[in-house]
Amino acid sequence: MYNKEQIQELQAVTQDFLKNPHHIELTALKQVLQFHEYQYYVVANPFISDFEYDRLFQQLLQIEAAHPDLISADSPSQRVGNSLNQQFETLPHLVPMLSLENSYDADDLNDFDRKAKEGAQLDNINYCVEPKFDGASISLVYENDMLVRACTRGDGVAGEEITQNIKQIRSIPLSIPLSSYGILQMEIRGEVIMSKKSFDDFNQKLIAKQLPPLANPRNAAAGSLRMKDPKEVADRNLDAFIYHISFYTLQAGAKTPDLLKTHSGSLELLWNMGFRSPQKEKKLISNIEGVIQFCKDFELERDHLPYEIDGLVIKINDFALQEKLGMTSHHPRWAIAYKFKARQATTILENVEFQVGRTGAVTPVAKLQPVAIGGVTVSSISMHNEEYIKEKDLRLGDTVIIERAGDVIPQIVQSIPSVRKGTEKIIEFPSTCPVCDYILEKEETEAVWRCNNPACSAQIVERMIHFVSKDAMDIKSFGDANIRKFYELGLLKNIPQIYQLDFTQIGQLEGFGKKSVDNLMAAIEASKQQPLYRLIYALGIRYVGETTAKTIASQIHHILDLVALTEEQLQSFEDVGVKVAKSIRQYFSEEKNITLIKALENLGLNMIQTNATAIDGNLAGLNFLFTGTLTQLKRAEAEAMVEARGGHILSGVSSKLNYLVVGEDAGSKLEKAKKIASIKIISEADFIELVK
Ligand code: IVH
Repeated sequence: MYNKEQIQELQAVTQDFLKNPHHIELTALKQVLQFHEYQYYVVANPFISDFEYDRLFQQLLQIEAAHPDLISADSPSQRVGNSLNQQFETLPHLVPMLSLENSYDADDLNDFDRKAKEGAQLDNINYCVEPKFDGASISLVYENDMLVRACTRGDGVAGEEITQNIKQIRSIPLSIPLSSYGILQMEIRGEVIMSKKSFDDFNQKLIAKQLPPLANPRNAAAGSLRMKDPKEVADRNLDAFIYHISFYTLQAGAKTPDLLKTHSGSLELLWNMGFRSPQKEKKLISNIEGVIQFCKDFELERDHLPYEIDGLVIKINDFALQEKLGMTSHHPRWAIAYKFKARQATTILENVEFQVGRTGAVTPVAKLQPVAIGGVTVSSISMHNEEYIKEKDLRLGDTVIIERAGDVIPQIVQSIPSVRKGTEKIIEFPSTCPVCDYILEKEETEAVWRCNNPACSAQIVERMIHFVSKDAMDIKSFGDANIRKFYELGLLKNIPQIYQLDFTQIGQLEGFGKKSVDNLMAAIEASKQQPLYRLIYALGIRYVGETTAKTIASQIHHILDLVALTEEQLQSFEDVGVKVAKSIRQYFSEEKNITLIKALENLGLNMIQTNATAIDGNLAGLNFLFTGTLTQLKRAEAEAMVEARGGHILSGVSSKLNYLVVGEDAGSKLEKAKKIASIKIISEADFIELVK
């Protein structure tokens, strides 16, 4: 899409704008932002950091706020939607959206090829093969270079208009250079997907909020298209592959671009226009034997892709030939889907075990009749909490559909009530802890039942398992089994004892040769130097995941600095909301936790954040934002001063902001900040005084 010179030029302008915000010119700024969106979301090769992108984006918002008449429909700011409670109008597609016929094996593909050859009266046909993306299909219409509407598939003839939601997907350009190809209007098809990573991240967030996770990335993508609030769509971090041009009209006198003679050419054209088409994923194959081999080989690659596919689509490459073959009432005769083996299976929910986690949360785990999906045998799946069981109406003895998508954690999709025999039993949640018999409690705002007995052995063991785990202190060779064993033998009763183990005794245990004892010893010793965020995460403070732990660590010097931070100060950290701040406050106000941390410090564990920015931190934990034109300092210089003192620059005015520094001609940010009492509004001179 961009050639070398254009990239160099755009990069130079980017750097200039970052260094000299006064140089910024609106049209160039929009081009720069569009370029970086493209690099990030389509090519997956970003040239600037998220932070730098945000800074430029804020500049755009500022300029547009001052000159609303200059806001164009394709400005990156126009993705941000705030039309809550959208109504979705039903609109006819320019060309009906057909579905594809399915094939499952070599015979099916040979049949397809034979019929195509007969229809075309040819001895051989060239195919273009590409992934069958497992998401939700959409159709987009561009006119005069602009995205004018986006629709769901609907019944294939008409779909619902969801343009504002689609604009939240950054790999879909808001404008494209149609006119430079002589095209006036174009309707295209594609698939909205959620990458495996975005899906996992999103589910983690749901689980942290005690909401039931989504079953698979397809549901997550499909469910988002008709959401009332575009911001929620943006939160899902969706993506889109565009694989089909269904209709186009040319400008008067223009001739059909050469690329529009074949399917592979059309993918190239789409790519050149700035879409994420399967340009690199596609494969041109000159006969059906090659296609069959490719399908078999590709199925093995499925798990290595960053997104879900449920098969491949085989398309006749030549458009003239496609036209000649035409379509049945349901599918085109020039394409077929090759479906991979299903990732879903049905099995019986035989039993439920209630497991007690490190926070005392009791999780119901379904014990299933073992079943193979995608090469793995699944016999046990988390059911998260009581709500989840009720919502899905899961009963003992039920036949359930389960799904395992690649490396995604298996989920129960649903039960099948229609095959119930009447012997299925309602799942009763226990009222006491299955390990220590303490009465379980549930807070009003929570979905989980908890054992609040601090001496519950299950919790003690789980806390130690968490402490040594890979994302926490990462003490290799100290698996769950060893922790349980040492605990049962009385060799290990609490976290500090991990660092005081009696290795002579351990050496006498069965299965512990000198080598494994030495490895364990070395791994424990090495863990003492782990970065601070790992320790914060390892402590298992409720709601403090790895990301939050990183944020917190970057804002402090010594872990015990947290004792003195108020809830308000904690909330000013990125991603730290009321609930997390309360939980951190609670943790650091308990004597036993401070004793634990001090014991670990005495045992030689690193308690210090070694990141240089936070050390000299008289602004640690404070959030700043600059608005208007500064006269004594350059904007970048002022922002660097904040960061060097441990502070943070926010991208907009919110209740997390501590200081708004106001230069000349400040606009909407100042007005907004005035409405939030907790924000201190200061001048440039005040700021210089503050950082002295
Ligand atoms: S081509 C007229 N290509 O699979 C041809 N479809 O049942 C239109 N899909 O509704 C479809 N990846 O939602 C095509 N690379 C791909 C695809 C693809 C996924 C979906 C699409 C379609 C369904 C076919």
